[in-house]
Amino acid sequence: MTKVMFVCLGNICRSPMAEAILKHKTAERNLDIEVDSCGTADYHIGDSPDPRTLDVLRKNGISFSHRGQQLKSTHFYDYDYLITMDESNRTNALQVAPSDLENKIVKMRDYDILDKGGDVADPWYGDESDFELCYETLDRCIDEFIRLL
Ligand code: 4NP
Repeated sequence: MTKVMFVCLGNICRSPMAEAILKHKTAERNLDIEVDSCGTADYHIGDSPDPRTLDVLRKNGISFSHRGQQLKSTHFYDYDYLITMDESNRTNALQVAPSDLENKIVKMRDYDILDKGGDVADPWYGDESDFELCYETLDRCIDEFIRLL
């Protein structure tokens, strides 16, 4: 069993979208992967994902529910991969990580076969097209992540 925690800032847009996509692929392909998501900030603890996140997931045939939670140091013991969406999430996650487990932090676009190593842009201030682009990016990176497992 591989355990994956996706990490963004608010845990209402990017990381829950990634969680939903990987859970969907895990179920479709019968993979032994456990998935969750969290934010580095405490702004949206207990909140449902942004309605625009749920809309783009629904358009792609994925129904999903999640409640916002904040990254904590014990997650580093419980998960094999902590996958951050951008460099700022990575910096924030390093503040929380036990020093011997920092190497569990990776960036989502390290798995991007088109434009490796960049950030998954935050769609929070954007519109529907930004959420669609976010979905496409995550879908592509997650396929590669699964392939490399
Ligand atoms: P996320 O997007 O990190 O992809 O969930 C954000 C959502 C909310 C806020 C920032 C980013 N916020 O400042 O409330």
